[in-house]
Amino acid sequence: MTHKTIIITGGAGFIGSHVVRLFVNKYPDTKIINLDKLTYAGNLANLKDIENKPNYKFVKMDICDFEGVLKLMQDEKVDGIIHLAAESHVDRSIKDPFTFAQTNVMGTLSLLQAAKAAWNGEWEGKRFYHISTDEVYGALEMTHPEGIKPPFTTKASSGEHHLAYGEKFFTEDLKYQPHSPYSAAKASSDQFVRAFHDTFGMPTIVTNCSNNYGPYQFPEKLIPLFINNIRHRKPLPVYGKGENVRDWLYVEDHARAIDLIFNEGKVGDTYNIGGFNEWKNIDIIKVLINTVDRLLGRPEGADMDLITYVTDRAGHDLRYAIDSSKLQKELGWEPSLQFEEGIEKTVRWYLDNQDWMDNVTSGDYQKYYDDMYKGR
Ligand code: NAD
Ligand code: TYD
Repeated sequence: MTHKTIIITGGAGFIGSHVVRLFVNKYPDTKIINLDKLTYAGNLANLKDIENKPNYKFVKMDICDFEGVLKLMQDEKVDGIIHLAAESHVDRSIKDPFTFAQTNVMGTLSLLQAAKAAWNGEWEGKRFYHISTDEVYGALEMTHPEGIKPPFTTKASSGEHHLAYGEKFFTEDLKYQPHSPYSAAKASSDQFVRAFHDTFGMPTIVTNCSNNYGPYQFPEKLIPLFINNIRHRKPLPVYGKGENVRDWLYVEDHARAIDLIFNEGKVGDTYNIGGFNEWKNIDIIKVLINTVDRLLGRPEGADMDLITYVTDRAGHDLRYAIDSSKLQKELGWEPSLQFEEGIEKTVRWYLDNQDWMDNVTSGDYQKYYDDMYKGR
């Protein structure tokens, strides 16, 4: 690591907390500043184990605060930014697109402007790394609903379930076709980052990753929400027919990819990150039910009757599937975990950390949750 001081935005969120932990532990000579506004999704309890490390600092700040970010960058002589802060939940973006444009688009632009002002054209040794999603590419067709052998095998997909649901995958050269306000805002932010590279020569990198799962994910997203509901025998709201396909990656494997790309990725380039690990929602849900039941000593599958089909999400993208062969070939990255291992670890973590779950599911979040799901 050649960088001396890095800002990681959104470090109190799900993926950000794993990235902060990895960098703080792996690079003791680099100062890691976690810049986070602490929205409903930001939780400093995610970082309890590293909060007293000498190379870690937390700053509560909005990425939209241009003056504040500029001063922080100048005072701390920041030479790298890893940008994860965002509004990240599709259902919320359908209810409140404005907040998504404000944080994801204007916030990213503000951060770029602050970095440009702080670095003042001296790009040597600097890096602005923007974390994005595969959802910017839109949705893929499901030409093979029964599943076919995928073109590549990785550790993430080498378990029992190893199918693709179409011949096409998201590659880096695809046209952006976002459908949800969330993905539209992320797509716009990606384009601003590339524009700062092309116009000003800023040393930027963009990566687009598939769905992440693992510890510390806010329980509004499918996997933690359903683990918690199964535990408490609450209904599992499956959107539509549960046939939508997502490509799942264990969050620590994403964090490892971010580390590799931040240090060795090509400036100005884009990399897709994913594990060739496609699952229909309903199949994942059945795995979650069986795993929770087994770990709680209930008869396996006893909770299948919790599955409750509800009105589909508006504009629900049918299939996401990432082709990450560029990253695998150019930088030698591979997922480390087989999906079955990752899910087992994840379910165990949520069952063992009920305090964490109770903490984030109380108060304002609960009210929001009730409003959103009332009537479903
Ligand atoms: P998250 O919602 O769990 O965390 C977001 C974090 O950003 C929170 O800590 C929040 O407090 C902070 N934040 C929000 N607005 C802010 C602002 N204006 N200023 C400063 N901080 C702010 O999100 P996540 O799932 O960890 O996703 C992190 C990033 O990775 C996002 O950019 C997301 O688009 C991208 N991504 C997520 C996934 C996924 O499956 N979760 C997949 C691919 C890419
Ligand atoms: P989610 O975790 O919100 O991630 P994303 O929408 O970014 O892919 O949802 C994953 C999939 O699960 C998606 O197809 C929507 C579906 N889903 C449900 O069926 N029910 C739910 O309650 C949630 C939160 C998601």
